Amino acid sequence: MQERVPMADLVVTAPAKINLHLEVLGLRPDGFHELAMVMQSIDLADQLVISPSADGQIQLSCDRSELTTGGDNLIVRAAELLRSRVGLPELGARMTLRKRIPIGAGLAGGSSDGAAALFGLNQVWGLGLGESALTDLAAELGSDMPFCLGGGCQLCFGRGERLEPIAIGQVAPLGVLLIKHPQVSVSTPWAYGRCRELRGQTYLADEQAFADRRQALRLSPLVHALQGQGSWPALRNDLQSVVEPEVPVVAAGMTLLRRAEASLAVAMSGSGPSLFALFSTRELAAQAAAALAAPLAAAGFDSWVCNTRSAGVSVEA
Ligand code: C5P
Repeated sequence: MQERVPMADLVVTAPAKINLHLEVLGLRPDGFHELAMVMQSIDLADQLVISPSADGQIQLSCDRSELTTGGDNLIVRAAELLRSRVGLPELGARMTLRKRIPIGAGLAGGSSDGAAALFGLNQVWGLGLGESALTDLAAELGSDMPFCLGGGCQLCFGRGERLEPIAIGQVAPLGVLLIKHPQVSVSTPWAYGRCRELRGQTYLADEQAFADRRQALRLSPLVHALQGQGSWPALRNDLQSVVEPEVPVVAAGMTLLRRAEASLAVAMSGSGPSLFALFSTRELAAQAAAALAAPLAAAGFDSWVCNTRSAGVSVEA
């Protein structure tokens, strides 16, 4: 039997994601929504520092006081699930989260932190679990978490946990201008619940209809644009049509981002309320951020300029 070799401290990068497509297909027997999405990692990231121990203690601290660091935090839940599945309750870790991704923003910050914990603890505890075992654990903890492990640009089906990488080839990273109002958050369960109330009557009902929509997305103008073939279509996010009428900063932010010169597309990410504009380069995103700086600040938005990123969680060199 292979001996476990515990390692020293590890620093794991936990990147945010944006949704380039979010289509609500219908309801599943488990009560979740059946989705067809394109998710894309970006290089706005949290950092998780992990110090392993053998005292059975799982401890988390964070530089943002509004985040809970107890048993409901996905980092702590990931650590507890991992050690219980391998049957080693004596494993412990002290972890510190440096939070950079805005909270309650539709950017999967919490899911990415949990994925970083699974990935990092598997290494520092010397467990040697493979990618598919980690992905299965991730799916138990949250619908977006498998994507956060693998990252890059992927089609995400089912609850969001069924991944199909998109062959992007040598296409250069895109520039991203991301905005969020610091005082406004959206609850994901609320957004899906509202979607069901408003649109439930029109949901697709059978597996063949779901399969047809998945195939349409694989062959869509968006996927071609991501592969560097053809122009960018308007982006679709079905939760945006639910959230925008009830969260005024979403409508205000969209109006501002649509004024950005040279943008390829503009949309809300996930259940919001963060919004993004895409550009062919980071320089163009930075120029748009500079041009819109005054109206964005006047409307109270925070903004970030970043790039798309070709991977999910990773260990820092
Ligand atoms: O899986 P996760 O914990 O991220 O989901 C949060 C909530 O979002 C779920 O409890 C559910 O209300 C909603 N959701 C959904 N369908 C999905 C993903 C999430 O209804 N595919």
